[in-house]
Amino acid sequence: MKIKGTVSIVTGGTLGIGRATVEQLLELGGKVVIADIKCGDGMIEELNRKYGGGDKVAVYTKCNVTVHDDLVSTISKAIEEFERFDVLVNNAGIGGSQSFWDAQDTSDSDLVIATNLTSVLNLTRLAVQHWNSDPELTGVVVNLASILAFEPMPGGIPYNAAKAGVVNFTSTCAYLHPKIRVNAVAPGFVNTDIFQCSALALAEIKRRRELNDVLEPIDIAKQIIKCIEDDSMYGETVSVHPNIPPFVRKLHKAVYP
Ligand SMILES: NC(=O)c1ccc[n+]([C@@H]2O[C@H](COP(=O)([O-])OP(=O)(O)OC[C@H]3O[C@@H](n4cnc5c(N)ncnc54)[C@H](O)[C@@H]3O)[C@@H](O)[C@H]2O)c1
Repeated sequence: MKIKGTVSIVTGGTLGIGRATVEQLLELGGKVVIADIKCGDGMIEELNRKYGGGDKVAVYTKCNVTVHDDLVSTISKAIEEFERFDVLVNNAGIGGSQSFWDAQDTSDSDLVIATNLTSVLNLTRLAVQHWNSDPELTGVVVNLASILAFEPMPGGIPYNAAKAGVVNFTSTCAYLHPKIRVNAVAPGFVNTDIFQCSALALAEIKRRRELNDVLEPIDIAKQIIKCIEDDSMYGETVSVHPNIPPFVRKLHKAVYP
C-alpha cells in the first residue's frame, strides 16, 4: 500500500517512535490522526504548516488506549475528518514503574498489559470490523512489539509478556491477508522518553548509550513504513537492532482452518 493519499491512525503519536512515524507518513503524502493521551502545544498547527502547506493533513484526538470508548471515537474521528481510514499503527506503550515481585497489588502490571497488549487487540478488532464492513476496503496494521518479547530481561516482566503477546497476535492475524495485513516491528533500545518510567530503565538506556547500542525513533519509523508499503509482508515481526540490518523473526503464521 503506497502511503500517498492514505489515512493512518497512530496511537501514541505525540512523542518518540510514534511522532517520528507521523512525520514519515506526512512526508510521504499521507494524512494522520494522532491518538494520544496528550498533545504538544501547537503541534498540530506546526505539522499542518510543514506538511500540508496550511491544509489539514494531521489531526489530534484525545485517546487513552485503555478506554474502549476512546478507541471507538478514534476510528470515527478518522472517518469524520478524512472520509477514510487505511492504516493503524498500534504504537502507544508504557514501561512499568514498579518491580513486579515487590508489588503489593496488580495496578502497575494491569496497566502495562492493558496499554501494551489489550489495547492492541481491541483497536485492531475495531479497525478490522470497519474494513470488513465493505468488500472494497483494505487495511494495514503495524504493531509495536519489542526485542524483549524474544530476549526478555528481568526488569519488565509484564512488559515482556505483553510484547510477546503482541508478536503472537500479529502471527495469528496472518490469515486476514490479503484484505488486511498485520505486521509488527520489534525494536531494540530506542532513545525516547519511555525510559523515564523507572530508575532501572534509565540506568539501562544510559549504559547502552555509552556502548553506542541505541536506535533513534526514525530508524523504527522507517521500518514501520516498510511494513505498510510492502504488500508481500503479513503476519511478520521484524526486529530492528543497532548496527545490523532488520530481520524477520520466524514464527508460525496462522492459516484459516
Ligand atoms: N523506546 C524503546 O526502546 C522501545 C523499544 C521497543 C519497543 N518500544 C515500543 O515502542 C512504542 C513507542 O514507545 P516510545 O519509546 O516512543 O515511547 P514514548 O514514551 O516516547 O512515547 C509513547 C507515547 O505513547 C503515549 N501514550 C502512553 N500511554 C498512552 C495511553 N494510555 N493512551 C494513548 N497514548 C498513550 C504517550 O503520551 C507518548 O506520546 C511503545 O509501544 C514501546 O513499548 C519502545
